[in-house]
Order: sequence, then structure tokens, then C-alpha cells
Amino acid sequence: MTIHEIRQRYLDFFAARGHQVLPSSSLLPENDPSTLFTGSGMQPMVPYLLGETHPQGTRLADSQKCFRSQDIDEVGDNRHTTFFEMLGNWSLGDYFKKEQVAWMFEFLTRELPLDPRRLYVTVFSGNKEIPRDDETVSYWKEVFASVGIQAKDVDFSERDGMQDGRIFSYGEKKNWWSRSGIPENMPIGEPGGPDSELFWDFGVERGLHEKSSFSTEPCHVNCDCGRFMEIGNNVFMQYKKTSDGFELLPKANVDFGGGLERLAAAVANEPDMFLIDAFDEARRVIEGISGRSYSSNETNGTYAFRVILDHIRAATFLIADGVVPSNKDQGYYVRRLVRRAVRFGNMIGAKDVFCGSVAQAFIQEYANAYPELLQKKHVIVDELTKEEEKFKASLEKGLREFEKLSMKGIVSGSDAFNLYQSYGFPWELTEELAREKGQQVDREVFQDEFKKHQDLSRAGSAQKFAGGLADHSDEVVRLHTATHMLHQALRTVLGSHVEQKGSNITGERLRFDFSHPQKMTEEEKKQVEMIVNEQIQKDLPVHFEILDLDEAKNRGAIGLFEDKYAQLGGKIKVYFIGGDASAESFSKEVCGGPHVERTGGLGTFRIQKEEAVASGIRRIKAVLE
Ligand code: SER
Repeated sequence: MTIHEIRQRYLDFFAARGHQVLPSSSLLPENDPSTLFTGSGMQPMVPYLLGETHPQGTRLADSQKCFRSQDIDEVGDNRHTTFFEMLGNWSLGDYFKKEQVAWMFEFLTRELPLDPRRLYVTVFSGNKEIPRDDETVSYWKEVFASVGIQAKDVDFSERDGMQDGRIFSYGEKKNWWSRSGIPENMPIGEPGGPDSELFWDFGVERGLHEKSSFSTEPCHVNCDCGRFMEIGNNVFMQYKKTSDGFELLPKANVDFGGGLERLAAAVANEPDMFLIDAFDEARRVIEGISGRSYSSNETNGTYAFRVILDHIRAATFLIADGVVPSNKDQGYYVRRLVRRAVRFGNMIGAKDVFCGSVAQAFIQEYANAYPELLQKKHVIVDELTKEEEKFKASLEKGLREFEKLSMKGIVSGSDAFNLYQSYGFPWELTEELAREKGQQVDREVFQDEFKKHQDLSRAGSAQKFAGGLADHSDEVVRLHTATHMLHQALRTVLGSHVEQKGSNITGERLRFDFSHPQKMTEEEKKQVEMIVNEQIQKDLPVHFEILDLDEAKNRGAIGLFEDKYAQLGGKIKVYFIGGDASAESFSKEVCGGPHVERTGGLGTFRIQKEEAVASGIRRIKAVLE
């Protein structure tokens, strides 16, 4: 069964049980500044788990794209991936443990079907405040009994291992789920609850435990030897952290998350995740390019194949969601993915640029499930190729430099910074190279150098920003005020994901770059023009106030907070267009000025052009007539 068939069966199964099937959210979280990427299926659901009404009802199912940046350097073994899909079904105060256990068992053992004799489960053993989950134990016993299996429940014990058990209870480290882990680490207000995990047994007969570095300890389902693989997690999300413990959420929820690729590996009974169908075509492409086979482990080739497969698939999906390789934020992770893949490609003898071809194999593979990949195909291939070419040019020189340095002794933090500066080696790459030689690099020194460099470049960008206005002539100032109005109108029409990415104003026209995933329609452009012109005609007064950062945020100001805040040492200047004691302002934006005093004299605002400048970034040129 392909991953696409498994995904469909899961969604159909829950749709038939009253669930609304939702499309995957973006890999870039919306309205969640706490994290750079969507790393689990529940992340976009947090407000609803906390009690907000979901517009689609109380039973929901989806397959969510996830990216876990913290796993980049783990990739290379047979099961770590940074990108994966998480199947999810949610009950928002609707059904609870009994239904979830019964349905999940039915899905796994009848729909896929997995052999129930190879399924094991875990439950929460309880803590001071929250009792052992005996209820869930009893439901698991029932469903296993229905297929003739007497499921013994035991407390996990490091000394005794399996104890012929099928249902194991573990403490809060393993069977408590919240975004921040164990209860003690949860911030106030965070939802969480006991969970019940599902494990697939690849079979004792493979001898995985005996061959592993854990062979001296008894094996158990959470052992890292590879015999067991976690395929899903039923979270009974019922609690909310308070200042002195927990309280019940307004409703008891179910949050199930199942790794799609892991389910496919269980169905195929194949412990190497990179041998499931989703990687077949891309694997063949790499074999063609390198002239090696995935399984011949010459110079650690299998490891290299896995890195390339995972990293290029992740980068493909990330670029489709609007991230491009860069030196900061999400873009830096895409850069790291591509550069690490290029390094491993080099290791297995890939002479020509290859990332684009590997990406095309994934685009084809996922075209039906994620049509946006096909729509963004050119951007994806272009961005990958540009990044690969840029890095390829310096990779070999950088590697030679690294060799020289490491032969002389320990590679220092400032060496690492020089490798970064001169050859584009991300810190993590140098660290990995050093690790391969059994050496360590001093991260603090690297960071100090990096900070110094950043301070310099920040000063540079501050100057650039001031230069966003060609001069302070009347024409430029009028267009500057119009730019603020445009910014606000774009957010009103397109949504609050619109953020300023650049601005350049001459006496003739304004130019405004902003984040938005697709081309604007004619209708959207008209609406934006209309809103700006309406506000111009109202002859709104323009004024500024100097505010504390927090106050500005509270009052809903938009704009380039961090840079401006740093420059002005604690206070920022916010321009308001319209608004007084009786009316809300039309626009509130962090800005140094200058601006006109009233909007009435601006004339008529007209968009001349709307075009792409980079993936996920659009550019508008507009004039006042
Ligand atoms: N929230 C749980 C997880 O991410 C189940 O979806 O593992």
C-alpha cells in the first residue's frame, strides 16, 4: 500500500465516522509566533483544543505536513526524517477514550491491515495529581480480546523488560503530551494530557536488539534498538496548566497523531523508512546521478542517500510554502538542508547539480496529494539550483581548508566563522565535519564572531532602510504616506500574513514588497485601490506618537519592530493615519517618517504593476495621479 493510499484510507475512515476532513495547514505557522515551523499535527489546532469553537465542527481529521528542524543532524539513520506527514483526528469535546481506542484499533487492524499480534500500546502511569489511566487500559483489553488476544498490562520496568506484556504504563516522560513536554515544563495556560502510544513490532526474529548498542539491557517498546517503532499517539487532552497545578479544560479532547511514513513502514514491515514507496523515484534519481546503489554501503553511501532524500524532500515542501534559502529565520534551515545535501552528494560522487532533479521526483510523487508542489515547480527547482550552484562553487575549497585546519589541530570557533564567511559553511556543517573526526568546535567563539558580524550588517541595513526614500521632497513624502495606506489595505484585503519585505520610493512611484503566497487577482487589486482612495478622500489627519515597544504592539501597530526598536533604544515612533478619541485609526505603523499632515492632498492612488520578486514575496509599483 502506498503512503497515498494509507492517507486516503485514514481520511475516509474518519469521514465515515462524522469527521470533517481538513486540508493541511502551511509548514509556516500562522498566528503562532512561538515557533518557526509546524512540527506536529496539533499545532494549528491549539486554539480549538483550548476551547475556541472550530468552524468545521467537533470531529476533524487531516494529514498535516510537519517539519522538525531540531532533527536535521539526526537524519542519516533508518528512521529519522525532518519532514513527515502526521495523520490526525480530533474530537473537540465530542467522543473520548472509548471511541478513540476502538476506532484506532479497527483502522489499524482492519483497514491497513496490521497484524494485531504485532501491535503494542502504552498508557500513562499517573503522577501526584493525575491518576493512572486505567480506563484506557480497560478499552485496550477489550479490543485485543475481540481478536482473541489476552492483552496483559504491566508497569514498565527497566529491569524486567517485556514481561509478556502488551499494554505498558510509563511515567510522564513517555506518556504525557504537551508541546513543552513534561508537566513541570509547561507554561501556564498550556494544554496537555496523558497519552496512549501505539507501537509496531518488526519482530524479535530480526535480532535488532541483540545487534544494537542496547543489547545488554532488556528490550521494551520504548527501547531505541529499532525492534519497535512508534506509529501513533492518542493524546487525551483534558488539562490546562495553572499557576499551582492543573485544571480541566472546558472540554475533554482527543488529539491523535500518526506518522504516515511510519505507518507505511509498518504495513511493509520494513524498518528502513527510506525504502517506502514515497522515496522510490527520488532514490532512483540519486542512483542515476551518483552511479551508486542505495544499498551498497561504499563510503557510507546509504547514509548519504538518506540525507539527500530527506533534506531535498523537506526543502521542496518548505519552498512551496514560501521559504527561500537565506541567512535568517526559516530561510536558514532551508539553506542548511540544501548545503548538507550538497555535501553528501559530493561525497557519493554526484558531479553535476542534482537537487532540482531530486526535487522533481518528489514533486511528481506528491502532485496529487499536494497540488501546490506542481504549481510551484519552477520556483522550487530554481531556488534549489541557485542555492546548490552557489554552495558547490565553494564547497570543495572549503573542505580542503577544513582538512588543513583540522590537521593542524583543533578547529577553533573563529575558524568555523571563517568557513562560514568565506565558503558558506553553516555552523552545523563545520560542527558535523569536526564530529566525524572526533573533534569539537567552540560554539561560543563562533557565536561571538557571528554577533559582531551581525551588528555590522545591521548597521548596514539600517542605512539601507533610511535610503528607502530617495529624498524628502513633497512627492516622495506623499508616496510614503500612500505606502502605509497600501500596506494596511493589503492586510485588509489579503489577510494579516501580509508583511512588509521592502520599500523603495522615488519622486515618480512607490515600490512595496510584501509576503503573500500568490499572484493578486484583478479584483483584489481593485479593492486595494478602492480602500486607499476612500481613505484619501476622507482627508484623514496623520500624526505620530513615541511609544514603548509593548504599548505599540498592544495598540496594534504593524511594521518592522525589531530593527526600529534596536535603533531607537527602547522607544519607537508609530505613525497613525486617521483616528482620534472617537474613531479607530485606519493605519498604525512603526516608522521614522516623514509623512504628510493630511491624506486629502494625495490625489488618486493607482497600482501599476503587481509581480513576484521571490517565492512568497510580491512587489507592487504604484503612483499617485
Ligand atoms: N500531539 C501529538 C503529537 O504531536 C499527537 O498529535 O505527537
